[in-house]
Amino acid sequence: MSRPLVYLAFPVPDDVLARIEAACVVVKFGARGKPAKPDILAALSDVDGVLGTTRVPFDEEVIAAAPRLRAVSNFGVGYDNIDVAAATRHGVLVCNTPGVLSDAVADLTLGLIVALARRLIDSERSVHEGQWMRGAAQLGSDLKGKTLGIIGLGRIGREVARRAQPFGMQVCFHDQFRDAGEGFAFCAYRDLDDLLREADFVTLHINLSDETRKLIGGRELALMKPTAYLINTARGQVIDQAALAEALRSSTIAGAALDVLEREPPAEDDPILDAPNVLLLPHIGSATRETRRAMLDLAVDNLLAALRGERPPCIVNPEALERAPS
Ligand code: 8YV
Repeated sequence: MSRPLVYLAFPVPDDVLARIEAACVVVKFGARGKPAKPDILAALSDVDGVLGTTRVPFDEEVIAAAPRLRAVSNFGVGYDNIDVAAATRHGVLVCNTPGVLSDAVADLTLGLIVALARRLIDSERSVHEGQWMRGAAQLGSDLKGKTLGIIGLGRIGREVARRAQPFGMQVCFHDQFRDAGEGFAFCAYRDLDDLLREADFVTLHINLSDETRKLIGGRELALMKPTAYLINTARGQVIDQAALAEALRSSTIAGAALDVLEREPPAEDDPILDAPNVLLLPHIGSATRETRRAMLDLAVDNLLAALRGERPPCIVNPEALERAPS
């Protein structure tokens, strides 16, 4: 039997490439940056598997252009870039990398909370600008006794909750369930509006879906305290970013830290870039050497298992197993 053809959307270390090539023929490396859709369609025409999604939406058109495709192994936990229903219809398995990046994203989230509370960015800038003492402008706020509102108490949300405890923060959460489960009794359920009214820091850890798109808009921001901060390490589209820029300008809330934006990278004239009291990062939630390697290993495990006809360790659409050609 001939070895399956695999499209790699990005270059991988030599040992990982050797592991893939032991079982597959690697047909393409995607270029860095966003490849054009016609190039993607052409590249996928005869492949059996894809590692890493191709930085264009993996939609019906892309999936239909790959008649032999059996598996798409996403390099990441979020798979909003893939039309999972279309993949299932075509018998294509969609895999992702949950768990291995929860610590890294939670670490960054706590870093952002501390950075906002203690004004790290403007304090650091002022030293470089030759201004040592800034009086009241240096004063931040304690975390002890403050309330952290976690929207989405999944794997990452739980790691954030765990880390907030030693800082002495009160933790409340909003999710589809009300019982935080074993070991998380310190997390109190709130409905969304109550959480927004109560929390000093609101942090988002939800998937992007039709239900969560623009979950936080002008109405929700207006419910937050004027002293409260918003942190987003999930997906940019869960916030109405124009409404957030306006809320920052009008001091409806005190500040925000965003690792993810509605459009990445942002347009040069995106109002969020000029909004006050906002800390922006270039989507680095999972960007540690250890975590990226663990994500890659898991993504390769998923891909190779799927191409061997086995059940991959992390599969998003198990129902596609029944439709997949053996
Ligand atoms: C990216 C992420 O996948 O896992 C996710 O859902 O958002 C990130 O870890 C990562 O930046 C690789 O593109």
